[in-house]
Amino acid sequence: MSLKNWDNKTWLSSKKYIKSFNNFLLKQIRLNRDSQILDIGCGRGKILGSLSSKLRLKNKPIGIDIEIHKDRDKRISFKKIDAIRYLESNKNKFDLILIKQTIHLLDFRKIKRLVSRCKTKLKKKGKILLFTLETSKNEIPTFLLMKKKLKISLNRDKKIITFLSKLYPSIKKKNFSFKVKISLKRYSEMIKNRYISILLSMSNNQILRGINEINLTNRKKLNFNDKLICLILDK
Ligand SMILES: C[S@@+](CC[C@H](N)C(=O)[O-])C[C@H]1O[C@@H](n2cnc3c(N)ncnc32)[C@H](O)[C@@H]1O
Repeated sequence: MSLKNWDNKTWLSSKKYIKSFNNFLLKQIRLNRDSQILDIGCGRGKILGSLSSKLRLKNKPIGIDIEIHKDRDKRISFKKIDAIRYLESNKNKFDLILIKQTIHLLDFRKIKRLVSRCKTKLKKKGKILLFTLETSKNEIPTFLLMKKKLKISLNRDKKIITFLSKLYPSIKKKNFSFKVKISLKRYSEMIKNRYISILLSMSNNQILRGINEINLTNRKKLNFNDKLICLILDK
């Protein structure tokens, strides 16, 4: 099963989230109309599309993903290809390579190869901005089984961060946080759609039981912070 519903009408594709995310992005790196941007694991490409409009980019930014979505953003140049295959098959160079909430889907060998290939694809002052879920104070609403799986996944993310920090000691760390307000009904739908990778391996029964469990809290709205760690790598 693959990740098709991550940014399918969730807060992650809301204008507010994208605006806030891109404002954060532009505080970390100076970009202009001439910038060349690559987004690895871009999903529907809404973040990249919005960035392209904001900066009035001369060249369409490139978004790559192994999933193809009919409703993907038209302001980007999309390629359906595996990240490493793409990086190893052309000579394009970028001012920004964005890897948002995608690295955890790869094994350590691939992560190492991906990041080292990305480094060779940076222009002189280029940067890689790599985002992953906050590992220690994560507030994502969960049911019991989801919580267990999230804990395992976040522990692995911690190892990925340590691994990359050892490989690249000059790596910088920043934090991004977005206040989410969502109805329980809508969040239940997101769970049903298996919006996050820890839900992909669960059976339909486990998902339904999980939704019932969350609904037992009797809250109509969920308020929490969607927190990310941002790793910044220079050339
Ligand atoms: C959790 S989603 C994140 C989407 C988007 N970056 C965002 O934050 O909204 C992870 C994305 O990575 C893609 N992906 C997974 N493995 C990939 C690979 N080897 N090469 C390119 N994309 C990949 C998935 O298809 C999925 O769209």
